[in-house]
Amino acid sequence: MDVRPLAPDHVAPLQDFFRRVPESDHNSFAEDVLEAGLVEGWLQEDRPRRAVAVDDDGTVIGYVALLPQVGWSSHVGSLRVVVDPAARGRGVGRELARYGLLASFEMGLTKTVVEVVADAVPAIGMFQGLGYEPEALLRDHVCDKAGKKHDLVVLAHSVEGTWSGMASAGLEDELAG
Ligand SMILES: CC(C)(COP(=O)(O)OP(=O)(O)OC[C@H]1O[C@@H](n2cnc3c(N)ncnc32)[C@H](O)[C@@H]1OP(=O)(O)O)[C@@H](O)C(=O)NCCC(=O)NCCS
Repeated sequence: MDVRPLAPDHVAPLQDFFRRVPESDHNSFAEDVLEAGLVEGWLQEDRPRRAVAVDDDGTVIGYVALLPQVGWSSHVGSLRVVVDPAARGRGVGRELARYGLLASFEMGLTKTVVEVVADAVPAIGMFQGLGYEPEALLRDHVCDKAGKKHDLVVLAHSVEGTWSGMASAGLEDELAG
C-alpha cells in the first residue's frame, strides 16, 4: 500500500472508492463526493492537499484531504480521512492521517482539526497517537439515518505541541529529510 498525492490516474479508482464507501461514512468527507465532475476539478486545485492510499493492484482503499480554512481561521486546516471498510485495521488510516499532518506543516498551518463521532473510540485513539488532543465536545451534534443523535468530538493538533506531537507520531525524521 502506498499513499500518493492525487493524480489524474487516480480519478476513476477514487470515484469507485467513493461509491464503495457506505453512505453512513460519507459524512466524514464533508463534501458531496459523488457529485459529477468534482474529483476532476480537484486536480486543478492549488491549496487543498488530497491523497489516496493505493493497493498493489491500483485499487484506491483510502482517502485523505487537508482543507485550509479561509478568513480569520486561515491558519487552520481541516482534516478528513476515510478508509474502505474492507481495508480497515491495517494501518492505512494512520498513514493517511500522518500524510495530512505533514501536509499541514508544509503549508505553514499552525493548527489542524478533525471531527470524529464520539462513539468512534478507536478513531479518536488513532488521532491522539499522532498528537491530536480533544478540544471540544459538541453534544447531539450529528444525526444518523435512524434519527439517533450523537456527540461530535473536535480534536486539534497545534504547532505549539508540534515537537512532542511529531515525536509521538515519528514524523521528525521525515520533516528533517
Ligand atoms: C477512522 C479510520 C480512518 C481508521 O482507519 P484504519 O485504516 O482502520 O485505521 P488503522 O488501521 O490505521 O488503525 C489506527 C489505530 O486505530 C486502531 N483501530 C482502528 N480501527 C479500529 C477498530 N475498528 N477497532 C479497534 N481498533 C481500531 C488500530 O488498532 C490502530 O491502533 P494501533 O496502531 O495502536 O494498533 C476508519 O475507521 C474510517 O474510515 N472511519 C470512518 C470515517 C471516519 O470516522 N474518519 C475520521 C474522521 S474524518
